[in-house]
Amino acid sequence: NTGALWGGRFASGPAAAMAALSKSTHFDWVLAPYDIRASKAHARVLNSAGLLTDADLISMLDGLDRLARDVESGEFAPAESDEDVHGALERGLIDRVGAELGGRLRAGRSRNDQVATLFRMWLRDAVRRVAGGVLDVVDALATQAAAHPDAVMPGKTHLQAAQPVLLAHHLLAHAHPLLRDIARLQDFDKRAAISPYGSGALAGSSLGLDPDAIAAELKFDAAADNSIDATSSRDFAAEAAFVLAMIAVDLSRMAEEVIIWSTPEFRYVTLADAWSTGSSIMPQKKNPDVSELTRGKAGRLIGNLTGLLATLKAQPLAYNRDLQEDKEPLFDSVAQLELLLPAIAGLVSTLTFHTDRMAELAPAGFTLATDIAEWLVRNGVPFRVAHEAAGACVRQAESRGVGLDELTDEEFASIDPALTPDVRAVLTVAGSIASRDARGGTAGIQVAKQLGGVRETAVAH
Ligand code: ARG
Repeated sequence: NTGALWGGRFASGPAAAMAALSKSTHFDWVLAPYDIRASKAHARVLNSAGLLTDADLISMLDGLDRLARDVESGEFAPAESDEDVHGALERGLIDRVGAELGGRLRAGRSRNDQVATLFRMWLRDAVRRVAGGVLDVVDALATQAAAHPDAVMPGKTHLQAAQPVLLAHHLLAHAHPLLRDIARLQDFDKRAAISPYGSGALAGSSLGLDPDAIAAELKFDAAADNSIDATSSRDFAAEAAFVLAMIAVDLSRMAEEVIIWSTPEFRYVTLADAWSTGSSIMPQKKNPDVSELTRGKAGRLIGNLTGLLATLKAQPLAYNRDLQEDKEPLFDSVAQLELLLPAIAGLVSTLTFHTDRMAELAPAGFTLATDIAEWLVRNGVPFRVAHEAAGACVRQAESRGVGLDELTDEEFASIDPALTPDVRAVLTVAGSIASRDARGGTAGIQVAKQLGGVRETAVAH
């Protein structure tokens, strides 16, 4: 029993290089438990269709259960002669139940509908694990936000001083995209929950097998509506590859900030020893490798997505062997995120924020200039005029090397008579932050609501 699934019309076996190229057991073996579950469902519909006696069904299911246990224990593994997971498992089944019974299981199915189904099953499970890991990162961000309800920081645009914000506001700004990614994974599942089993090679089965029964047993929502589409389309895989890449990109944005924040020039944060690394030559080094690997792996996940799309482009219907290239990119994207997510969660939850330093820098770079302009607007000045006046205040303060709050009453008045000493009320970081109190803004009351919302959404997932 060599496990070959074809050969009847061939006078000779494949050349060694042909077999080496064709082989996929080194990566598709992870589908083995799914293949066996699907085989059990298939055996039942063969029985319902009168193609397998009740006694044969019992022996078949028992053989498949024994095979599953041997796969799990490692007792049964692919051999050099096996082309793919499907051939290897048929060999294993025949070893256990004999060629007469073992040779009956393959009726009415093809590796084309099998692999399309198993890949969906694997991805649906994998995506749930990934979503759990993303939730842990959201949780770490929310916990840090809750631990720093009043801490302020310099808010930036273009990486230049912009306006002061609450640290919690900034941290939660990283939680929101991750929650949307989780929602995307859940949405992906709606389309992935359709079973191709029963489609055969492309045209469907003539044996009276019930695709809906298999779909239900394998926890799909329904069987596919079109067997040609079901065996040849991989948009579900591309969709998953996109969401996984998006997660990596979202993590990389946060990682980049941690890298910048941990430099001596910024000194916003100190990394925990457990989540950083040293240098083999420079004894003083403490490097943000978790963040750098996150940034680097984001590129890899983007590559997995674009590589898969390139594989799918312009393939004629129906199944083509090109499609064997669909699995490794997804296996890799999932594996990388399973490494990254716990490390990022650990990194974020153990960051020490230097809130005094961040508070000291919050007004630097004249970040309260907008507050002067908006104060003038509240006093009836057109924004265009107010913007000019606040800009003149910045120019004056800059030329004297002082902060906006250090301008004299006379200086304010000479820039614009509307700038009475009352303007000083808004020239504090705390006042500026508290004033941005509309929905979504950085005022403490709003950020507390945002934290509640993030936690509620996380629990709902
Ligand atoms: N290993 C293939 C894949 O991953 C499935 C086998 C289909 N092969 C075939 N000759 N139709 O897509």
